[in-house]
Amino acid sequence: MTRKRDISVIETVDEMQSVVRSARADGISVGCVPTMGYLHDGHASLIRHASERHPIVVVSIFVNPTQFGPNEDFARYPRDLARDLEIVRQAGGTHVFTPTVDQIYPEGPRSSIHISGVTEVLEGASRPTHFDGVATVVSRLFEAMLPDVAYFGQKDLQQTLVIRELVRTSPLESVQRVRVEVLPTMRESDGLARSSRNVYLSAEDRREAPVIFAALTRGAELLEGGMHDLDAVEQAMRDVLNSVPRLEIDYAVAVEASTLRRPAAQGVLDEVALLIAARLGTTRLIDNILVRTGRP
Ligand code: PAF
Repeated sequence: MTRKRDISVIETVDEMQSVVRSARADGISVGCVPTMGYLHDGHASLIRHASERHPIVVVSIFVNPTQFGPNEDFARYPRDLARDLEIVRQAGGTHVFTPTVDQIYPEGPRSSIHISGVTEVLEGASRPTHFDGVATVVSRLFEAMLPDVAYFGQKDLQQTLVIRELVRTSPLESVQRVRVEVLPTMRESDGLARSSRNVYLSAEDRREAPVIFAALTRGAELLEGGMHDLDAVEQAMRDVLNSVPRLEIDYAVAVEASTLRRPAAQGVLDEVALLIAARLGTTRLIDNILVRTGRP
C-alpha cells in the first residue's frame, strides 16, 4: 500500500478486502464510488457526499475493457492518475483502489454476468455488450471493496437500474448487501452534464452541446404543464435538438422511469424519464431528467 498524503492507494483485491474487513470488524462503515477515472466535479460531489457519511470512502479507478465495444474509445479513454488522486484527496476520499486488469479478470477480460430486461433498450440497443461488462465489473469491484453503500450519478440512469438489478439478483452475499444510492447529475453552468468524455468536445461541439439539456428541459416543462402525450413530448425534444444541424440524434425518448419503456397501457405515469443520446462531432453524449407526473 502506498500512502499519498492522507489517502492510501491499493492495487490488489486481497489487500483491498483485508483493509475493509478489518475496518468493518471495528464497526466502521465503508462507502465506495466506482469510477473509470479522469474524475470531474460530478465524481467529486459523490466522494464528498460519501465522506460525510462514512469514515472510509474507497474510490475505484479502473478503465474496464469489457464495457467498451470493439469500435469504442477504450484506448483513448482519458487517464490521469496523479490528477485523480488529488481530486479524491480534496473531496475527502480515504482510499483509491486501482487494480490491474489481471486483478479484476484473473481468467481474462470476459463478461460473465448478463442482466436482462432493462439492458435491452436505449444504450443496450446500440452497445449490445456494454451492460454485461458493467454488471460484471461492478460485481467484481463490490467483491473487492466490500462496501456498505455505493454511490453513482444519475447521468448514467440506465446503468444505475442495471446495478440495482445486479444487487437484487446476485447470488453473492457481498454484492446483495450493498445499498446503491444515486445522486443528481452535476452540470456545467450552461446545463451540459459533467462527463469524463467532455474532453473530446471541440470548441464548436462544446458551444452546441448544451442543446441536449435544453431539449430535456423543454420535455420536462411540457410534462409539468400537464401534457400526457409522450409522443408529443419526444417530438418537442427532437425539435429543440434539430436546431443544431450537426447533432445526430441516437434517441430522444419519454419513458416510464422504472423500466425505461413505454407501458403497454396508456395512462398517467408516476415518473417519466426523458433520455437523450446524441453525437456531436466524434463524441457521443448522453443525458436524462426524471419528472414526477403522477400522484403527488
Ligand atoms: O460509470 C462508470 O464510470 C462505469 O461504468 C463504472 C460503473 C465504474 C463501471 O466501470
